[in-house]
Amino acid sequence: MCHVAVIGTGVVGSAVALLLRQKGYTVTGVCSKTGVSAAGLAAELGCKSTTVPGDIITEADIVFLTTPDRELSSVASRLADSGTVNNKHIFYHMSGALPAEVLSPLKEKGAAIGAAHPLQSFATIEKAIANLPGSFFAIQGDNRAVDAVFKIVADLGGKPFLMKSEDKALYHLGACIASNYLVAVIHFAVSIFSCIGMSPEQAAEALLPLIKGTLANIEVLGPVKSLTGPVARGDAGTIERHLEAMKVLDPSLAELYKTLGRYTTQVAIEKGSIDKVGAEKLFSIFREEGEADV
Ligand SMILES: NC(=O)c1ccc[n+]([C@@H]2O[C@H](COP(=O)([O-])OP(=O)(O)OC[C@H]3O[C@@H](n4cnc5c(N)ncnc54)[C@H](OP(=O)(O)O)[C@@H]3O)[C@@H](O)[C@H]2O)c1
Repeated sequence: MCHVAVIGTGVVGSAVALLLRQKGYTVTGVCSKTGVSAAGLAAELGCKSTTVPGDIITEADIVFLTTPDRELSSVASRLADSGTVNNKHIFYHMSGALPAEVLSPLKEKGAAIGAAHPLQSFATIEKAIANLPGSFFAIQGDNRAVDAVFKIVADLGGKPFLMKSEDKALYHLGACIASNYLVAVIHFAVSIFSCIGMSPEQAAEALLPLIKGTLANIEVLGPVKSLTGPVARGDAGTIERHLEAMKVLDPSLAELYKTLGRYTTQVAIEKGSIDKVGAEKLFSIFREEGEADV
């Protein structure tokens, strides 16, 4: 069972196809919407390329559907109607938010269906090839699909773990907060440094050692023990100075700072570095304007 087809040859699909080929799998064909990315990848892999999903799955046992999430359901229906799906096939998508059941039309044709979501952020194909090995993969689906994917994930250098269908939205929410909102928070910090005359490049360069140091602390200590700074110390005066300084910025940014401040205060309570009185003082500073004291 080493014959693989890939439908959706963007960042993730291309990286999966190239890595599996390196591991000895035969990529029988690749497909994309416009055909451009699939043709480029097919030339590298020496396989067939198409814009018609049903054209490349006859010789494959394993089919990865790595289109954008919004396309998965219609691509699955199109494949199911193509007359090429049978019970030798196992189809996987790699979406974090959607359950395997989005591929149900394929199951009705006798195929097995599963989801294998790499818990990683892939900005380019090269980065994906570098970062897929070592990533955790959330696995969900029917028994045949789950059994087979453990070996595939191991061959990709990944670490599989099982996920319930009903937990996928919350799981993906956590992943987006850790990755996408981290990017947004760093963008927020960079934009504040730009107010003191630093270019975005200088700001990112200056902040990166701090960010990497914080991540290294989290790796060893976990997030709670890694909290430092004015909230962890209950230093209300410093936070008031921050809010005073923020008056030159868009008021919506002060709201974001306060919302993050309230969450950070909860982390400081969990760390035990501030007492109830210190926490109440911080909560009152971080409360939105117009919100009554409680
Ligand atoms: N990027 C990440 O960091 C990441 C991380 C984990 C999981 N994922 C998941 O991986 C999957 C793919 O994401 P991606 O970032 O690789 O997407 P992407 O780079 O946008 O690539 C999507 C690919 O799907 C093709 N496509 C779109 N509609 C199609 C259709 N109807 N039929 C056939 N092919 C179609 C596109 O064709 P064209 O090339 O012609 O446009 C493109 O090759 C998604 O489920 C996503 O949630 C992504």
